[in-house]
This record gives sequence, structure tokens and C-alpha cells, in this order.
Amino acid sequence: MHLNQPPSFLNRYYEDISKNMENAFRGHDLQIYDYLKYFLGWTDINGNRANNYTGKILRSSLCLLTSDSLNGNLKISLKAAVALEFVHNFSLIHDDIEDQDKFRRHRLSLWAIWGIPSAIVSGNALLTLGNLEIGNLTNEKLPLKMINKTQKLLTFSYLKMMEGQFLDIQYESKINISIPEYLRMIHLKTSTLLECSIILGVLTSNFNDDSLKSKFSSLGKILGNIFQIRDDVLGIWGTDDTGKPIGSDIKKKKKSLPIIHGLTHQNSSISKKIHDFLSQEFISDSEVNHVIDILNEAGSKTYCQELIKEYWSEGEKIIDDLNISNSFKIDFQELGTYLSGRHS
Ligand code: IPE
Ligand code: IPE
Ligand code: MG
Ligand code: MG
Repeated sequence: MHLNQPPSFLNRYYEDISKNMENAFRGHDLQIYDYLKYFLGWTDINGNRANNYTGKILRSSLCLLTSDSLNGNLKISLKAAVALEFVHNFSLIHDDIEDQDKFRRHRLSLWAIWGIPSAIVSGNALLTLGNLEIGNLTNEKLPLKMINKTQKLLTFSYLKMMEGQFLDIQYESKINISIPEYLRMIHLKTSTLLECSIILGVLTSNFNDDSLKSKFSSLGKILGNIFQIRDDVLGIWGTDDTGKPIGSDIKKKKKSLPIIHGLTHQNSSISKKIHDFLSQEFISDSEVNHVIDILNEAGSKTYCQELIKEYWSEGEKIIDDLNISNSFKIDFQELGTYLSGRHS
């Protein structure tokens, strides 16, 4: 067992989130929803009940945790939380097509079973269910101005996420990606939705204080960067716990942080070797292992973990400065520690 356990607040909100996700599917019974139910872990390939929702519920829980820390009404924030979880899963369904990854969460990805066209349209439907869910906020006790803000923020954030995905794909065929370019890309593809999750927690608690929002935004950005850099580390040094094939980032020539570190290494024999592998048309399994050996020699994993540490020391300062009770500060702190060293 790993020492790095998920923070306890993920458990605290799990039942509410997963129950409300399932409720949002009521009345939708075309086969497209069966595909989505499979992807979310509720059913097996044949449509038989399998499990509860299998995602980490990170984004939805962050929304609820933030709302909770501000004394918000969780029933209201839950609409935003479910919307976030749907938008996130939409992004994963499409991401697996874009990355040609056949596995996610230890199971076949949607496109690997039902093909790319069905996976595209299923993903789109899930995004739309997310839009509908946050649209349900109109029935709740939140000022109209705030409701408009939540909807606009969610839409804006997934637009940014798509921009990031686009850059991520474009960078596959480019070799000289700088660290600032990488940071911009991960900020767009990953951090914007995490930041949005926290801010939706603020807005649905009916808070509109700019200084509070700006502190929470900075915290969201930092958590997002840590999250994606660790994801990049796991894409190379992860174990079976990730539920995804290891090495596919290298095969796809993703400009993940360890690879950029290797490509820009001051030892020119290291950078040249990585450069040569990534200039090939195809990278075989044994060449993937070779690339990993070189990255080990380059200290690329340590470099990434050091950067995560730097980000998290900034994150801890922000948490200290938040005007929320201590127990919630501990929750945010536990999250940062977990994301810095997670294994799945
Ligand atoms: C994976 O996110 C996608 C990235 C932004 C790297 P998660 O690791 O939070 O996915 P689940 O929902 O827990 O499977
Ligand atoms: C995920 O990026 C980002 C989004 C889905 C928006 P990755 O491609 O790095 O994530 P995983 O590793 O497949 O989950
Ligand atoms: Mg991917
Ligand atoms: Mg991707």
C-alpha cells in the first residue's frame, strides 16, 4: 500500500456527488447513455450494473470543499459539482481518442469499444449534460447575476481546456517546446478546470469578493500545475495503479515535462539522444525503455518533483492566508500533499 492516501474530504462528498450524477441520467435512455454509463464505471460493456463512479471526483469535490469552507449551501453547489464532473469526463472521452489511449481507469476507453464516431458524439452529449446541470441552478436560491457568472465561467473554462488540448496535440509534431510554452499549455488544458472548480464553489456560495476570488484562483492554478506535472511523471514512471498504459506519452511524442527536461538538458549527449529518438517516425517499445533510461540519467523525474515542491510551497502560503477555518485549511493542505505524490 502507498503512503500517499487521497485526502479524506474526497470521501466526505463522494456519495452526494455520485448520487446526483446518476440522477442527472434519469429519463435519458438511448444507447448513447449506456456508453456513458459504462465510461463512468456504473455498468460493464454489456450494460449490467458494475460499480459506483470510479473517478477521483477531484474537481467536483474541490467545488464542494470551497463552498463548505465559505458556509455555502452544498445543495446549490452540487449542481456545479456534477456539471464539473461531466465536463471533466467529456474531456477524458475525447482525450483518449486524441491520445489513442485504449485504457482509462483500468478499463477499455469508450472509443476502443464502440469506435471513434460514437465516442465523439457520446463525449459531446456528456458535455451537454454538464451544461444542462449547471443550467438547473436557475431553480435554486442564487441571484441571477451569480447564476450567469457560473455558467459563463464554466463555458469559458472548457473553451480554455480545448485550447490547451489543441496545443498539446500540436506540440506532438514540434520538438523545441520551451518550459514557458509547456506551462501555458498545461495551464490551459488542466489548471483552468481546477481553478474553475474552486471558483464555482465561491460563486455558488454567493461570494463575489475579488480578493478572496483571486486567492482561490491562484490556489487553483497551482493545484492544476502540480496535478499535471505529476500526471506527466506518472505517464513515464507510473505503475499499473494509474489504470493507463505507461510509455504512451513517449510513443505519442508528447511534450511532457520530463521529456522537455531531457530535450533541453545541459549535457548535450543526453539532449541529443532524446532529440534523436523523438525525431524518428515511430518509437518502438524497446526504444521507449531506452528513452526512460536516458531520462533517469538526466534526473528528469527529480527535476519535475522539485518543481512540484516549489509550486506547493507557494500553495501553502496561499492557504495560510485564506480566511477559512483551520479544518478546511488542513483539507486543502492534504490535497496538495496528495497531488504532489499521487500514484493513480
Ligand atoms: C485526468 O484527470 C486528466 C488530467 C487532467 C490529467 P484525473 O486523474 O482527475 O481523472 P479521474 O477522474 O480521477 O480518472
Ligand atoms: C488530460 O491530459 C487533459 C485533459 C483531458 C483536458 P492528458 O492526456 O495528459 O491526461 P491523461 O494522462 O490521459 O489522463
Ligand atoms: Mg491522455
Ligand atoms: Mg492528452
